[in-house]
Amino acid sequence: MADAKPFYWEDRPEPVAPEVFTIEGGRPLSGTVPISGAKNAALKLMAAATLTGERCRFTNVPEIEDVRVMAETLRDLGVVVDHPEPNVYEVASGDVEWLFVPLEAAAKMRASFMLLGPLLSRFGRVIISNPGGDRIGRRPVDLHVDAMRAMGAQIDYRNGYFFATAPGRLRGSEVRFPTVTVMGTENAILAATLAEGHSVIRPAAREPETDDLIAFLRKMGADVERTYADTIEVNGKRRLRGAEHAVIPDRIEAGTFVVAAAVTGGTVRLERAPCDHLGAFLEIAERVGVGITCGTDTIDVDGTPLLDGGYRAADVETAPYPGLATDLQPPTGVLLSQATGTSNVHETIFEDRLEWLGELRKMGADVRLIDEHHAAIAGPSRLSGAEVEIGDLRAGASLMLAALAATGTTTIHGAHHVHRGYENIQRKFQDLGARIERRAEGTPVTTS
Ligand code: UD1
Repeated sequence: MADAKPFYWEDRPEPVAPEVFTIEGGRPLSGTVPISGAKNAALKLMAAATLTGERCRFTNVPEIEDVRVMAETLRDLGVVVDHPEPNVYEVASGDVEWLFVPLEAAAKMRASFMLLGPLLSRFGRVIISNPGGDRIGRRPVDLHVDAMRAMGAQIDYRNGYFFATAPGRLRGSEVRFPTVTVMGTENAILAATLAEGHSVIRPAAREPETDDLIAFLRKMGADVERTYADTIEVNGKRRLRGAEHAVIPDRIEAGTFVVAAAVTGGTVRLERAPCDHLGAFLEIAERVGVGITCGTDTIDVDGTPLLDGGYRAADVETAPYPGLATDLQPPTGVLLSQATGTSNVHETIFEDRLEWLGELRKMGADVRLIDEHHAAIAGPSRLSGAEVEIGDLRAGASLMLAALAATGTTTIHGAHHVHRGYENIQRKFQDLGARIERRAEGTPVTTS
C-alpha cells in the first residue's frame, strides 16, 4: 500500500486542539459509507494485550483519538505499541517498566481504567488514577474496585489514585454486580484470566464488544465462556499467548449514519455494518417509519418516507444490551425531532445524557427536559442553523446530524470531541454529499 508509512502518536498534530465544524444543512445524503471498527471493542482489546508478554496484532482498529490515547498510555508504561499501517495496531507488553496509569490518561479517557484488571492480575500491583478524578458519584468505578477486591486484591484510595496490590496471585471468585456494568464486567474478566482458580461473573454485560473481547481472550489461550446470557465463567491460566484479532464493526457509528440518512431524507448504504448488533435501535427506526433493509454485512437506509408521509413519534428507553444503547439515545433524539407527535425518552443508564437536548433546542427542536432521566420531544420541528457547543462525543455527533437536517448554516464548537470516537466523520459525511468544514477554533471560515 503506497501510503502505508508508519505513523505514531508523537508525529501527530496536537490532538485536542479545539475545533469547529461549519455545516450547511438541508441536503439529502446519499451513497455508501464504510463502518469502522468499534471503539468500545478496540480499547479493551488493547488493554487485554497487556496480559501477555507476547505480541498481539489488531486489525480494523478505528483511527480515533481514544485509540491514540490508549496507545500513548500503554507506551508510557513501557509497552511497545506499533502502528504499521492505518487501522492496524500491534501491542507487545514484554517490558512493562512502570505500573502507573497517571491522571493525564484518566482525564482524557475513562477506558484507561481498563488497565486495572490486566496489570494487577499479571504483575500483582498497579497505581491507577480514578477516571472521575475526585468527582466520585457520577460514573464511579466502585464496581470495578469491588470486583478486584472480591478476587483478593488490596486496594487503597489516596489523592485521586487507587493503589492496588495482589499478594501472590488474584484468586478466582464469584463476582456479583448490583447492576450491569460494561467495563466493570470486562475488567473482572481480564483479571480472572490470570487469577488462580474459577470465577463466575454475573450479571455480566451482554454487549457485543464484551463478546469480542472474550473471542480475543480465547485466542490468547484464556479459558473464558459465557455460560448463560448474563453469566461469564473463567478458569484462570498461568500464562496467555499473543494473538491476532479483527475488531468488530462499530454499531454506534452505524446507528449514527442510519439517522443521518433518515433525517436528511436520503438513501445510504452502510458497508460492514452490524445489523445483528443493532436490533433494538433498528426496530425503533422502523417503527418511526425509516426504511431499513439488512444484508449480510450491509444496512440500506431509505429516508425518503420523511419527504412523503413523514415519520411517527415513538417512546424509547435506553437499557443495557440487547436494549437500546444509551450511546444511541442522542442520535435517536434527533430522529424523533423529525417525527409527528410527542416522543418520550427515558434515559435509564446515565444522569447527564439528556443535557445535550438543550443545544438541540437552540436549533428549533421542541424539547422538554422533565428530569435528568426523562425528556419529551415533540415534532416534527423545522430545524435551522444555529451556533451550538458540544461537550461530549455522542452529543457532538448528534448535533452534526441535526445540522445536516437543518436549513441554513450551523456552527458547532467543541467539534474535536467527536474525533474521540468517530473515524474521519467529516470526510464520511462529505462523501455522502454533506457540506462540512472543519477548522481550528479561532481561525476564519474559508469557502469550499
Ligand atoms: C460503557 C461504554 C459507554 C456506554 C456504557 C453503557 C466503553 C468504553 N464505554 O461505559 O460508551 O455508554 O458502557 O452502555 O465501553 N456504574 C457504577 N459504578 C461502577 C461502574 C458503573 O455505579 O463502578 C454505573 C454507571 O454510573 C452507570 C451504570 O453503572 O449508571 C452503567 O455504566 P457502565 O456499563 O459501567 O458504563 P461504562 O462501562 O463506563
